[in-house]
Parts: sequence; C-alpha cells; structure tokens
Amino acid sequence: MRLVTSADRRWVLRTLSTSYVIALAGDDAPCCLHWGPALTAEQAEALSAPAAAAGSSFDSVAAWGEELRTEAGARFETPSLQLAFPGGDRGIDWRYEGHAVDGGHLTLRFADRRHPFRIELHYRVHAGSDVIERWTVLRPEAPVTVLRCDSAAWSVPQLGGYRLSHVSGGWSAEHALRRTELAAGETTLTSRRGVSGHHAGPWLMIDAGDATEQHGEVWSGALAWSGSWRITLVRTPDGRAGWTGGFGHEGLSWRLEPGEEWVTPVFAGLYAPGGFGEASRRWHDHVARHVLPAPAEPRPVVYNAWEAVGFDVNEANQRELARLAARAGAEVFVMDDAWFGGRTSDGAGLGDWRPNRDRFPDGLGPLVDEVHRLGMRFGLWVEPEMVNPDSDLYRAHPDWVLHTPGRPHTLLRNQLVLNFGRPEVADWAHKWLHELVGEHGIDVLKWDCNRAFTEVGQDRLWIDHVRAVYSIMDRLRADHPHLRIEACAGGGGRTDLGILARTDQVWTSDNTDAHDRIAIQRGFSQVYPARVMAAWVTDSPNPLTGRAVPLRFRFHVAMAGALGLGGDLARWSPQELAEAAELVAVYKDIRPVVQFGTLWRLPYGVQYVHDDRVVVLAWRGPAELGPYGTPLVPLRPAGLDPHARYRDEDTGALHHGAVLMSAGLPLDLGGGGDYASALVRLRAC
Ligand code: DGJ
Repeated sequence: MRLVTSADRRWVLRTLSTSYVIALAGDDAPCCLHWGPALTAEQAEALSAPAAAAGSSFDSVAAWGEELRTEAGARFETPSLQLAFPGGDRGIDWRYEGHAVDGGHLTLRFADRRHPFRIELHYRVHAGSDVIERWTVLRPEAPVTVLRCDSAAWSVPQLGGYRLSHVSGGWSAEHALRRTELAAGETTLTSRRGVSGHHAGPWLMIDAGDATEQHGEVWSGALAWSGSWRITLVRTPDGRAGWTGGFGHEGLSWRLEPGEEWVTPVFAGLYAPGGFGEASRRWHDHVARHVLPAPAEPRPVVYNAWEAVGFDVNEANQRELARLAARAGAEVFVMDDAWFGGRTSDGAGLGDWRPNRDRFPDGLGPLVDEVHRLGMRFGLWVEPEMVNPDSDLYRAHPDWVLHTPGRPHTLLRNQLVLNFGRPEVADWAHKWLHELVGEHGIDVLKWDCNRAFTEVGQDRLWIDHVRAVYSIMDRLRADHPHLRIEACAGGGGRTDLGILARTDQVWTSDNTDAHDRIAIQRGFSQVYPARVMAAWVTDSPNPLTGRAVPLRFRFHVAMAGALGLGGDLARWSPQELAEAAELVAVYKDIRPVVQFGTLWRLPYGVQYVHDDRVVVLAWRGPAELGPYGTPLVPLRPAGLDPHARYRDEDTGALHHGAVLMSAGLPLDLGGGGDYASALVRLRAC
C-alpha cells in the first residue's frame, strides 16, 4: 500500500523512498506536514498538527504549508486559487467533505462553506517512483470567475537557506541553468508566450544552498503544461519557503459556468536526498516510466535536412541528402520546412499543406518511397498551429487566427497563430494531418511552433488552444500507432512534461554549436532524460555561431542525447562522411547505455550507466584548456561498483571501480588542443 490514511484527518503518501504527509488544520484547510525522507505510519502520526501562525494585526492566522492557498481571511501569501464570486467575495472557506483512494491516487474533496462550489485536490504516486503528481479540479455550481487556479502549492521544510535552480535563456540559448539564492519575498518564473518557452522552463529545484551534484537534499517541481504558465516562489521573512504554480499567466481570468469541470494540469513534485544528480535521475526515471508514450523504444538516429538546404527544398536535393544520410547510418530522414504550398521563404505558404508541385512534381510519394527503399523511416516537418497571411488558408479564413477585435495583428516571423480554441479550426488541422500521415505513410512528424502568441482575444484560449494541440496529437497517435512525434518550437521552446506525454523527443535548440550545446544540454538534463534530447551533428563552422569545432567533438557532445545528423552532407568530404558513419555506428553501440541508463553529470563530461556497461563522454573545451600549465582535474566517474572491475572495451585495459572513482579515468585529452574529446566504454567484469 503506497497510501496510508488515518482517522485523524491525516494522509501519508509513501513513494519509493520518501513520504508526504497531509493533514487538515482546525478550519479544514489541507496542509503539508512533511515532505522528505520516508516515515513510518507511527512517525507520521507523531508529526504535530498544522499550527496556525500567531495572529497579529499584520500577520497571517492561517497555518503555513497550505496545499492550495486561498484568499479567505488573514492569508497574505501568494494565493494558488483566486476566485471572484458574484458580489465581490473572493474567499474560499474549506469544508472537508471526504476522500477517495484508488490505488496510488488520493482525492480530497472539499466544498466552500458559503458558495455552491466544490474543489478536489488530487495526488498520485506510482510504484517504484518518488514523484508525486498533483492537480486540482474545480466544480462550480453557480457562475464564478477564476483569476488563478494553480495545480498545487508545495512547501519545503524550514531550511537554513534557500537556493533556487531553474532555467532561463532565449531562442538558441534555451535551458541555461541558473542557481541563485531565493530572494526574500516573491519570485515568479513564467511564460506569457503561449508556449512553455525558451526564456524559462516550467520546473524548479530548491536546496539549502549546500547541495552538489552528488550530495544534499533537493526539493523540485515540474509542471506538465505546454502553454503559458506561472510558478510563484515565496520566501517569508520568518524563514519559510515554497511555491505555487499552474497554467495561465498573470492577469488572465476565466468564467466558469455551473456544472463545468475545470481540471488543471499535473504539477509533479520530487524530494531527493542525494544532490542534483539524484534529483535528475529520479525525474528521468519518472518521465520514462510514467510520462512518455513509447519509452522503451530506442530513439533512432535522425537526419534532418533543415540546416543543409533551409527553404531551398526540392526532390533532387532531398533524395541526395537521403542517400548520404542512409550511408552515414541514419534511421529516419526528416524533410523539414518548405515542401508545401507557396513556401519558398518564411513569408508565405504556411497553412497550405499540399506538396509544392514545382518542387515535388509527383507529390511526396516518390521521395517517401525512396527513403523507405534506403531503409529509413520518413519524417516530415509541420507547423499546424500557424498561418502566413500570404496563404490560401488565410485568404479563405482570415477570421481563423487569434486576434483581438479592433487591434492590428502582430506578425512574428511573418506568421499568425490559428485559433485552435475554435472546434472547426482544430478539426481542420486534425483532418489534414490525419490524411497526410495516412496517405503518405509518414512515420515521424516534427511538430513545430515558431512564434509566441499575441492578441489572443479571449483568456480561455490560452488554455483551450493547448488542450486542442494535445487532443490532436493524442488522436493522431491513436489512429496511427506507428507515428512518432518530435516536439519543436523554434528549438526547445516547448519542453515540458505535458508535451512529452504525447511526443517522443524534443528538438532541444536551434543552436547546434557543440560548444554552446554543452551548457544547453546540461540545463535540459536537469529534468528531462537523454532519450528525448534530440542532438544533431551539423556543419563546421557552425552556421549560427561561426565556430569551428572538430567533427569528433561535435559527435561526442551530440552522443550524450538522441544523436542525429543535421549538416549539409553533400558538402562533407569523403573522409568526414566515413568518420561520421563510424561514429554513428559507435553511437548505436552505446545507445542503450545513453538512452536507457542513468545519467551522472561530471565536471567536463557526462557518464551513463546501464546494467554492466558504462559510457563516459568527456569534452575539453576552451574553458578547461586554459593557458599552458593549467592542470586538468581528473574526471572521476561516479555511481560505479567499487568492488567491480571494469574493462575498457576499446583498449582492453582493466580498472578497479574504486580506483576509477578516486583517481579518475585515464583520458587522452592533454595534447588535443581546443575541443579535444573522448568517449570511453567500460564493461563490468
Ligand atoms: C524552427 C526549427 O527549430 C528548425 O529546426 C526548423 O524546423 C525551422 N523552424 C523551420 O522553419
């Protein structure tokens, strides 16, 4: 039994190795009493009941740690639930109505004491996992306006200090990891862009300021939502901290009608006592076992033609690239943008999802057949949510776009956003996607989304649009069980647990410079596993940054995720193509270790462990190189069996696990100059 309830209005969630204890305060408000190491039932019983703060003229009388903070009475911390009832009342006074337990799923049911309004708090735990999934359901029985409805509020135990880890960045610089002291007051992480965002990611970690990769307690949360979101962290003057978060952003409001059911996305939480590395490994395990639709499938080596040809797509160049990609060992060939309508630049054609007959005189069939003949699966780029004003679709349906009457449309990348909140628009998108996949035997869709939302017009559309995207993806997958989807939003602008529940991998960033990618991948890996981190090897100098990086280094960085190729193979020399084919073959050998193993981040590399195999990828970039004489700290693998011996699969050298972990791995990075790199394959024997 993973869930223990007790008579005195107390519930104990038991995860694999942690406990979470909820109790009702005297006024029925649900509060978190404990989130941390596992407690026995007896120990959980011994926790003091929620203690209301001493009320004073300016302080709260509510208990700290409420599971969903409301605005009733003297509650002054950021509310999770803000409602406006007719007449101006905004408070919710909890009245506990009962609970239900179904396996690892606990539902706590409440009503408001004054208004005909019900609230459910949901908790779900899975066998073998430490992640707790939480969400909220509102059931109004009279009209009400919702100003904020978070999925959950999370409180961490009182610590000596609080440090926040999160990501920020921008296009081609997403997933940049930040670690800063949590400011006293409120800190908001948010996206107001309609996608989960390049500028922030919907997850966070809190530690006392003393955690490292391998040591220290870490409390973390990740939101399963691919649209606008908001997480507000609070650090109180009396030394408490926590956060509340969910979908939507500041300033939106939604009117709910009687009988409606308002279900928030899941906001998952995880406590890990073994540092950031352990927190990441537990998140990876959760994503693999409880989020991804096809977790057990090895992610294929994809070739994507975007960086090779841009908008200059035609059947001949795609055939040639497909031929070269197959020889290099690619398993999926993806034709990117500009195969359809009048799309010869980003200025026209989005929305007209018919093959461009100038470029593909006989349609897509011959190319698809050729790719299949070459032994690869065929993937196709689509951007279903968007339209160029210069398109037949827009000319026929100018009212289908998100817009605010009376305001001009804001064009970004020359495109507008279709309003998927309108059923006929979402149906149109589903229909052409369904037909396209069915008619052409499309194996993989790269689903892109290349602009932020503006002039949304109605606040509900921020939510409804995302739900419609989810629903289309879910239907496509149900109708075409072989179909796989890569999520993309101008790179990694839609990376979150919501999109990962219906896609197979994420296009991590439009920045494919291996030097920059190291940091991008480090941020990405905090929560998301290697198998979903699409990483292409592209040309040198890199088309975006102009940086020249050796092929081997580019491969060794990309091999840390789901390796792909994205360069203009037609311009690679025979030697480069041969080396690429060799390295792709090596990747296929280590793929189970990288994609299904556990990740250990090292100071200048990463390590994966799977069964008896260990893979270390080490990169010596300019930062590690320094001036002559700069010592290179030995790279000490982690997580090995100290009593085991490990054979280097390439050199045959035999190492003791304990020695490797203390003295470090012998690596030949010394004389390699800038961008020396190494791949070490070890097997326990
Ligand atoms: C943005 C994506 O991130 C790129 O990989 C590429 O698909 C372009 N869009 C195509 O317009």
